[in-house]
Amino acid sequence: MASSFKVLVTEPIPESALKPLYDVADVTIGKRGQFSTEEALIDEIEPYHGIVSVLSNPLSDRVMEAAPNLKVIGNMAVGYNNIDTNTAEKRSIVVGNTPDVLTESTADLSVGLVISVVRKMKQAEFDLRDDKFDGWEPTGWMGMELNGAKLGIVGMGRIGQAFARRMKSFGVKIGYHNRSPLSVDVEKKLAASYYENLSDLLRTSDIISFHCPLTDATRHLLNRDNIKLLKSSAYVINTSRGPVIEEEALAEALHRGDISGAGIDVFEEEPSVHPRLLTAPNTVLLPHIGSATVTTRTKMAELAVDVVVQTLSGHKEELNNRVV
Ligand code: GLV
Repeated sequence: MASSFKVLVTEPIPESALKPLYDVADVTIGKRGQFSTEEALIDEIEPYHGIVSVLSNPLSDRVMEAAPNLKVIGNMAVGYNNIDTNTAEKRSIVVGNTPDVLTESTADLSVGLVISVVRKMKQAEFDLRDDKFDGWEPTGWMGMELNGAKLGIVGMGRIGQAFARRMKSFGVKIGYHNRSPLSVDVEKKLAASYYENLSDLLRTSDIISFHCPLTDATRHLLNRDNIKLLKSSAYVINTSRGPVIEEEALAEALHRGDISGAGIDVFEEEPSVHPRLLTAPNTVLLPHIGSATVTTRTKMAELAVDVVVQTLSGHKEELNNRVV
């Protein structure tokens, strides 16, 4: 039966999540990358009542202006910096994201980045493949010991805390910077101390890892000026959003040896990566795969679809904390 609702899924998402959408709407699925510009969205968006979007879709005021029928956006991401939420609110467009389901997988990847950079795994493997392994070497490929190291976590929300829980078991000392301190109980459980002042955390950390959302307040939180506060032995990890770090400044600090390495999953101008970062020493660069497990990506797709399905079916009250 033809539906009166039209939904655009901007690009292919895990197939199994789509079924409930077909029950309530005529569904169009875009091609990979098709809607990564405002213009592409503006050209096509007019008929749609719902969108299942991904974080590379710029859902700006101009785009929403071109979408007179739009009632709901289900963004397949926890971050929603790609959506002008003020305009959405003014136009009574429901915006849903996918909190919780990607917490554990993103925290896992952050741990992976820490270990790979502090233990120089990438270089060590290159060297082995390059025939430079001539047996156990007393002074070869020495990295930093995690036990006893100081870990600075910037952004202590769900993902920051999941990362802290994991890292605690490696024997690191944890400091964190956040808009506000955690409750005393949670601080105790994580054995984490609050740093109101980011500079103090930067100055004293051996590893500094970013887990905050991208907002006006967090754009270039690590920048050309305060990166100088880091120890030359420090490592930078970012699995949050690229623009939280001034990428060129990070790349230059790595090239100069002002810091010891970086593990980076997110970039300022995705999918571009600053050319100086591509050639920086002891740097592991990943293509934004923090949440990329089959389980997590499937759940993310299900949640994004569900926001659209529930809204179009008139069951907004089902959405609880998933509406931003
Ligand atoms: C991924 O980066 C997300 O925000 O969900």
